Amino acid sequence: MSSAKVVPEIEKYRKAGYDIDPLFINRWSPRSFLDKAVPDEILFSVFEAARWAPSALNIQPWRFVVARTKDDLEKFHSFILPGNLTWCEKAPVLTLIISEKTDDKMGENAAHAFDTGAAWGYLSLQASLKGLVTHPMGGFDKEKARKVLNIPDKYALHAVVAIGYQGQKSALPVNLQEREQPSPRRPLDETIHEGSF
Ligand SMILES: Cc1cc2nc3c(=O)[nH]c(=O)nc-3n(C[C@H](O)[C@H](O)[C@H](O)COP(=O)(O)O)c2cc1C
Repeated sequence: MSSAKVVPEIEKYRKAGYDIDPLFINRWSPRSFLDKAVPDEILFSVFEAARWAPSALNIQPWRFVVARTKDDLEKFHSFILPGNLTWCEKAPVLTLIISEKTDDKMGENAAHAFDTGAAWGYLSLQASLKGLVTHPMGGFDKEKARKVLNIPDKYALHAVVAIGYQGQKSALPVNLQEREQPSPRRPLDETIHEGSF
């Protein structure tokens, strides 16, 4: 998908207040996934985009634990909470985004979460450009995930992201069908504090 135009279906729900690339409007987080594999070239382009995110001292604290085989996906399913599992079980790729909290150069890295958030943003936008959808989830058992995936304590666990091709709304349970639409945003003037807070 090119970023040339806002997708008409999405435009019904979202209008930018200022001129921005349609890419930012077109990315959203659906829950319906097709049972369709993501080719390696496309999947790795998504992580490649995240690789180029900026970070304090260029530490690049983000790491991605990726599941795309049946066995690895089942491991992820074991720690995702039921409300999310109902829809994300169909996603062909799940990735846990984590970040290294400490670094040899700076000790405690106060920017690890900030920087990893930027990497997630790049990842999700590149996915959208490639015709994929992403859906991040905080609803998973972090302690269980740490154990199941052997993640050392010096890494913070942030979100599991489902990656794949968008499915039909009608494939979802009825309660989720109602929520399957792009969300709005508050007006920009409620976010910007000019001069001081
Ligand atoms: C850190 C984080 C945690 C989230 N956790 C969940 C979750 O557990 N379940 C879910 O369905 N959506 C989850 N979301 C998705 C958000 O609800 C969604 O991104 C937000 O409503 C904005 O919608 P959009 O991504 O479609 O623009 C999460 C998003 C983020 C960034």
